[in-house]
Amino acid sequence: MNPLAVELNETIEKHAPQVLRVLSGLGKELYFPKGILTQTAEAKQRATRHNATIGEARECGHSMGLPAIMRHFADLGPDDVLPYAPSAGRPDLRAKWREEIREKNPSLGDGPISLPVVTTGITHGLSTIAELFLDPGDLVLLPDKLWGNYNLIFGVKRGAEIKSYPLLTSGGGFDLDGFRRTLFQHSGRGKLFVLFNFPNNPTGYTVTESEADAIAEALASTADAGCDVVAVCDDAYFGLFYDAEVLKESLFTRLANVHPRVLAVKLDGASKEDFAWGLRVAFITYATPGGEGMYEALEKKTGGCIRGGISNSPNLSQALLLKAMGDATYRAEKQQKFEVLARRARKVREILAHERFSAAWDLYPFNSGYFLCIRLRSLEAEAYRLRLLDSYGVGVISTSDTDIRIALSCVDEGDLDDLFEVMLQCATEMMAA
Ligand SMILES: Cc1ncc(COP(=O)(O)O)c(C=O)c1O
Repeated sequence: MNPLAVELNETIEKHAPQVLRVLSGLGKELYFPKGILTQTAEAKQRATRHNATIGEARECGHSMGLPAIMRHFADLGPDDVLPYAPSAGRPDLRAKWREEIREKNPSLGDGPISLPVVTTGITHGLSTIAELFLDPGDLVLLPDKLWGNYNLIFGVKRGAEIKSYPLLTSGGGFDLDGFRRTLFQHSGRGKLFVLFNFPNNPTGYTVTESEADAIAEALASTADAGCDVVAVCDDAYFGLFYDAEVLKESLFTRLANVHPRVLAVKLDGASKEDFAWGLRVAFITYATPGGEGMYEALEKKTGGCIRGGISNSPNLSQALLLKAMGDATYRAEKQQKFEVLARRARKVREILAHERFSAAWDLYPFNSGYFLCIRLRSLEAEAYRLRLLDSYGVGVISTSDTDIRIALSCVDEGDLDDLFEVMLQCATEMMAA
């Protein structure tokens, strides 16, 4: 049991043992994770100079919102927003999002994919597919650089066994050999649930086209050997691709219909892609070879899972996203925000290319998304984070003993020089001490 859960149980037992007695097994296992949320809360109070902790995008001190979303708050009528939405989401929004998926992923062509099912954010999408596809003890393969909430969703709440595959080689690039080895080692179990997250949180890495093809081949060979695979693409940061050689589509395009034993699942949504984190609109989309009616049945099961959890997702948020997507300026506004982030990414590269930073840290390969991540050469990441926060008013996230995640999504371009100078100064002082 997680030590945080043990601590909470002890507190409850001390003050109200009867409450501990009635908690379910899951209730006893649950805790509120420390890590990113705690570090972000600390930075909110103490990062007076730069706050590079949050997985949101900010500009000039405000949320980076699309006017195409914001202007519709006033012009939605009661019938647009007050009735319950269906459990699987508004049909008009589902159809529109599928069109968008095809447009953003041209190699899908007209190939069969399900209608996207609406969830209340990608987190809810992840927990929904966890309920649909995982039994306690099933094996989940996660990248070794990951968003920590996967552990709570798959491990604590569903009781799945979690193992990791190495995401990156030391030379930079996806660790195909490591990935193949991990698949081979576990394919004897007959069923694998494999998660991909590109652009990756925390490193900001996205695979190249050839790496994506090789991942698809590796999964197909695993499937050929008799193992069923649920291949999940967490595309939270989809579209924010900064390098020419990066795959500009979802890995889902390569996994959809790759093998009858591979069920490809795409999770995406407005949270990060449309700069609308708090609206909580996301989607689950399936692709796998199958007979007529299969998608409808899967969509119904997914809707049933949502019905038995939150009943349905907020109609207001769905209506707003639909309006925004129909707005003539939607694409241009997204492109403009993309360019703001792409300029920040270029600037970070330029800054970190200076030799002097390499005494303190190495940069993980980074070509996309909201974040970049550095590996400290000799300092302990949590001690460094706290010193940065307390002595310099700079908030970053420590994601392991050696790694620091920096959200370029919430630091203006003009502040990046200062951010990295201060980080280097702090590291140099600590290394000298
Ligand atoms: C990889 C990844 N997936 C999912 C999420 C959550 O998305 P949502 O806010 O839509 O639940 C995050 C971050 O918040 C993330 O980093």
